[in-house]
Amino acid sequence: MALIDKHKHVERNATLLLVLSFLTVTVGGIVEITPLFYLENTIEKVEGVRPYSPLEMEGRNIYIREGCYTCHSQMIRPMRDEVERYGHYSLAAESMYDHPFQWGSKRTGPDLARVGGRYSNEWHVDHLIDPQSVVPESVMPQYAFLMDKRLDGDLIGAVLETNRTVGVPYTDEMIAEAKADFRAQANPDADTDGLLERYPGAVVANFDGQPELTEMDALIAYLQVLGTMVDFSTFTPDASR
Ligand code: HEC
Repeated sequence: MALIDKHKHVERNATLLLVLSFLTVTVGGIVEITPLFYLENTIEKVEGVRPYSPLEMEGRNIYIREGCYTCHSQMIRPMRDEVERYGHYSLAAESMYDHPFQWGSKRTGPDLARVGGRYSNEWHVDHLIDPQSVVPESVMPQYAFLMDKRLDGDLIGAVLETNRTVGVPYTDEMIAEAKADFRAQANPDADTDGLLERYPGAVVANFDGQPELTEMDALIAYLQVLGTMVDFSTFTPDASR
């Protein structure tokens, strides 16, 4: 019997066809899925990517609370027009410590994945207080109230701990020093050696120019770190994976 005739037999017998299809899909599924359980991590590690500092983390929470993601994505796709406008396409590792990630799906405003370092802190203050004063045609809402909302950092240690339970590698030391690091990052006169050792490259500044530590400081600290952790002048994708 030729092979094609055997196949005819299978196709004409509904039960046999069902059983054989099921077996084929099962084998295929096992082959694809089982190895994933033995991989510790499916995200390629990239040098420079670190957990957010306490102040950046607070800013991220404000970003989520204010719904900035409803107008801004944080995901540069590997297409020429995007890479020319925003910079190197986003790597999976760059959002590995984001819970939840902020890739977004709507771009009323530009992508923010690499906005860090693109503007001065003063520009961000002016822009967040009154976007239309900087970009007259902007439809972005005003966030001037962030200047008045003071922060004490009392709960930031608990925020880091919560993130640790979902896999962000915060150490006991990072959690113990969270409140001190939180305040130090917004104070250029503070001793920041410990902060910078724990969070290399963190921008230290009085972000909003006011003596008080406010939500504006935290949000700008977050915006200034976006997309700056990986040094793309030395980055080469790991071709072995
Ligand atoms: C209603 C939609 C909308 C919301 C909500 C919104 N934005 Fe925007 N945003 C825009 C638009 C449009 C622009 C481009 C014009 C401009 O620069 O103001 C923009 C520009 C920006 C820029 C400058 C980006 C660049 O590369 O030039 C930053 C930074 C920014 N927004 C941050 C934020 C933050 C932080 C929040 C939340 C607190 C926020 N936006 C909420 C619409 C929005």
